[in-house]
Amino acid sequence: MTDYTEEYRKKRITAEEAAGLVRDGWTIGMDAALSQTPGIMAALCERAKESGLRGVKVQTLLDAYPFAFYADDSLNGSINGVSWFSSGGARKAINGGYADFIPGYYRDLPERIRANYDYDVFCVSVSPMDKNGYFSFGTVNSYSAAMLEKARRVFVEVNRNQPRAVCGGQVHISRVDAIVEHDCELPVLPPTVLDETSLTIGGLIAEQIPDGACIQLGIGAIPDAVGAALKSKHDLGIHTEMFTDSMVELIECGAVNNSKKQLHPGVSVTTFAFGSKRIYDFIDDNPAIAILPVDYVNDPAVICRNDNMISINAALEVDLWGQVCAESVGTKHISGSGGQIDYVRGACQSKGGKSFIAFPSTAKGGTISKIKSILTPGAVVTTSKNDVDYIVTEYGLAKLRGRSLSERAKALIAIAHPDFRDELRFEAKKRGIMI
Ligand code: COA
Repeated sequence: MTDYTEEYRKKRITAEEAAGLVRDGWTIGMDAALSQTPGIMAALCERAKESGLRGVKVQTLLDAYPFAFYADDSLNGSINGVSWFSSGGARKAINGGYADFIPGYYRDLPERIRANYDYDVFCVSVSPMDKNGYFSFGTVNSYSAAMLEKARRVFVEVNRNQPRAVCGGQVHISRVDAIVEHDCELPVLPPTVLDETSLTIGGLIAEQIPDGACIQLGIGAIPDAVGAALKSKHDLGIHTEMFTDSMVELIECGAVNNSKKQLHPGVSVTTFAFGSKRIYDFIDDNPAIAILPVDYVNDPAVICRNDNMISINAALEVDLWGQVCAESVGTKHISGSGGQIDYVRGACQSKGGKSFIAFPSTAKGGTISKIKSILTPGAVVTTSKNDVDYIVTEYGLAKLRGRSLSERAKALIAIAHPDFRDELRFEAKKRGIMI
């Protein structure tokens, strides 16, 4: 058997040395969340501050770390972040005009990367090398393969806390140019606070989910509340974009066993995981979870191959036609399309499948109705009126698919907060959609 320890030793450098290799005008690629490289990025930002690096662009998605190029605008022009799906720091930077955003469906990213980008370096967090010379991508495998194909160089950041995904992505040391050892605790998401409203919504959706269903839960408190309400179910399966804490709980309590899945029976399928240490421990060396590329996992034609596919996602506002905005408040950027539409479509195409878009009826302390006559000017439509299935608030469920505009308006007004129903009825009549 080949011994790779000498090659490892030769390629090992410090984060500062890796940052020192970066040149003006480079494009750097990283995959989502925990696959990002905090050690190399911190050293790069320090170097940019000290020696005036120019025109470097760093592509990211759903950032797990507080990168300096997103945190403040002092690196503008030196290093700029470009996000495929913003949150946290990237959201602030995009709205502040010193970071850019690439619209797109998460599923299409590998194809977009292969068609449009070349990377001077692909940086990726990995678990320690195995005896065959492979580094596991751990918790994330969404478009790393595409970036690897399009990267001139590969820098891996080895973190002993990155779990080894046995059914996930990996890179061989022969493809790696630099190895940086940087152990840090993997960031965790703050535990979701499940208030009465989200628990009510979770309960309403759980009633619609039969034993044996296959579930996708999106980002936010409501999908987590649905997860909490599913503990008494049996034989559930998981096919999802993001693997979450509530899913580990469902597996550990026996509600999920993946036994009824037509595709990947016995295995939970995801493209990345983010949450608590409990998830990271679950993934480590576990063949019962497959972390696969997003162009496969989020393809509606793949999603629908499991019967009784149920998707649950959140939104910012919905108009009376059923157009769903999950990305902006007016022109203010909040998020990206992610996989919402793919899971809406995949669930609706699955035999017995259903898709739920769920949210509390109001925002900002009850002062704003999230069900609106028209979307706030500038709002981005994430799920169109032609795709939407169920909308859910704490006041009930509105089935929109196959329904007329007038039926939609009535169903949506019935689940709006009572304080806003008269106004919505008035607006709907004025628009001629209350026949
Ligand atoms: N009007 C004004 N502000 C609103 C609003 C409305 N109708 N609805 C929400 N907001 C504000 C909230 O108050 C919050 O503001 P804050 O950050 O200042 O507290 C912010 O917008 C975010 O809303 P919140 O309800 O906390 O978001 P969330 O964490 O539950 O996430 C989405 C909801 C829609 C942003 C999130 O699910 C998303 O990114 N979806 C798109 C991608 C997707 O669905 N992927 C699915 C596959 S994983």
